[in-house]
This record gives sequence, C-alpha cells and structure tokens, in this order.
Amino acid sequence: MLVSAKEMLNAAREGHYAVGQFNINNLEWTKAILLTAEELRSPVILGVSEGAAKYMCGFKTVAAMVSNMVESLKITVPVALHLDHGTYEGALACIEAGFSSIMFDGSHYPIEENIEKTKELVKLAEEKGISLEAEVGAIGGEEDGVVGAGECADPNECKMIADLGVTMLAAGIGNIHGKYPENWPGLSFDTLAAVSEKVGMMPLVLHGGTGIPADMIKKAISLGVSKINVNTECQLAFAAATRSYIEAGKDLAGKGFDPRKLLAPGVEAIRATVKEKMELFGSVDRA
Ligand code: 13P
Repeated sequence: MLVSAKEMLNAAREGHYAVGQFNINNLEWTKAILLTAEELRSPVILGVSEGAAKYMCGFKTVAAMVSNMVESLKITVPVALHLDHGTYEGALACIEAGFSSIMFDGSHYPIEENIEKTKELVKLAEEKGISLEAEVGAIGGEEDGVVGAGECADPNECKMIADLGVTMLAAGIGNIHGKYPENWPGLSFDTLAAVSEKVGMMPLVLHGGTGIPADMIKKAISLGVSKINVNTECQLAFAAATRSYIEAGKDLAGKGFDPRKLLAPGVEAIRATVKEKMELFGSVDRA
C-alpha cells in the first residue's frame, strides 16, 4: 500500500535524518529503487514529474504500476508515490489517479497566487489523507522544460505558505537541478537557517540532490532538511553502466541483446546510487 509522506518526514525531522525522493522513469527504475529501500529497511518516496508521467503513459498507469509492484515484490517499508513539481491541474489529476503525495510548485506565481492555489490543494489533500509539498523560491536549472533561476526563498513567504498547513516545504537555497556548474557558490545556509527558524518543525525539502557534497548534505539535514530529491545522479549512473556494457561488446555475445540482460547493469548502478544516498541521508533502518 502506498502511504502519505507525512509520517515518514515528521519522523525524519525529529530524528535528524532525511528521506530520499528518487525520481522514476520506467519499470526498471521503480523496481531498482523499491528493492533497495526494502533491502536497507528505509522509507522511500518515488518522484514522478509531469514529463516522466507522460512518458510512462499517464498518472493512472504510473499509480497502477507502482502499487502493484509494491504488492508483488512484497515491499514492507513505507513507500510514497509523489508528484514532483506539479501544476495545479497535474496535482488534481494525481489525487484522482491514486498518488499518495503531491507537490504543487507555485514558486513562479506571485506569492498571493501561490498562497491561493496552495490553500485549495491543502484542503483537497487533507480530505484524501495525502501529503502536500509546496515551494517558495524557484530551484535553479532546467527540469522537464521548467526553468528556474535558482533564487533564494524569502523566509517570511515560507512562513506564510507553511502556515497554510502543507506537509513539507521546498525552499530555494541556491540549489540547482542537474549537474552543478564549476563556479557554483554552494548552498545558502544563512537562508536555510532563517527559513528553519520561521517554520519550526516543518520538514524542509532539498531539491537538486545530485552532486551536492556530503558535508553540505549533512549540514542541510542538521538545519531541518528532511527530504532530499535525487534524479540526475541515477540517470548518469544508468547511462554509464549501459555504455560500458555495450562498449565491451556484451550485447553482441550470446543473448546479451535481451533487454533483461542489456538493462541489468544500469539497474545495478541505480541500486548502488540509491544505497549510497540512503546511507548518506541516514534513512537506513528507519522503516
Ligand atoms: P537532480 O536531478 O539535480 O538530482 O534534482 C532532482 C530534483 O530535485 C527533483 O525534483
């Protein structure tokens, strides 16, 4: 059964660790993440962007795949299926499709409109017993066509959104989706500390988890980050492993062209990446 992310994130906030959100792209991705979470006894959040959902034939297909996989793989750790960077309409569609968690990204709207739309979704999410993530201060970089400048969130605006009753809050603190550029100045811990002070025990979300050095991750967790999103790093690991399989000519040997063999090294690479992150985030044995 899929669960709301509320309980796992409140526990993480109290226990000074973070739960990973790993974005999924297909069946192999989903299976790799679920099996790793089960092996490590870690709660997990599966993130689905609107673009990835479209690729996987819609929110309903994704919800059916994930909930059936949780059952058939006998996954016993808490699993939340979460819409990543949703539009208002996308959030409504995911509630309908059976997602257990949604993100409404209203960070590009004027704050009044972000508040208005978030408020409506808080009500709907409460009725359904699912978790809701809101965002203040756009995350930099490009993800599925959504481009943000990477501004830092205004702590007072964070407080306004947190007070609406959202489950968790993503605040821009200089983080960027995708690889970090050479001259990236690092996370703004001043912003994070100021946001944290305003919102108290509200679990904070760190997007753009790929490539953030371990010491910064640990410091962010100590300042209230309880959910960390990772996407690109699994994609890079998958691509590199698939490349070496093909470059070694293994697809040409025997039945090496069988997709179940061809995709296996990529799956193992995702599992290794997810394991490394769960260990770093401290979520192992917290299920
Ligand atoms: P990365 O692709 O940089 O890991 O970011 C993932 C993310 O924040 C999804 O919302």
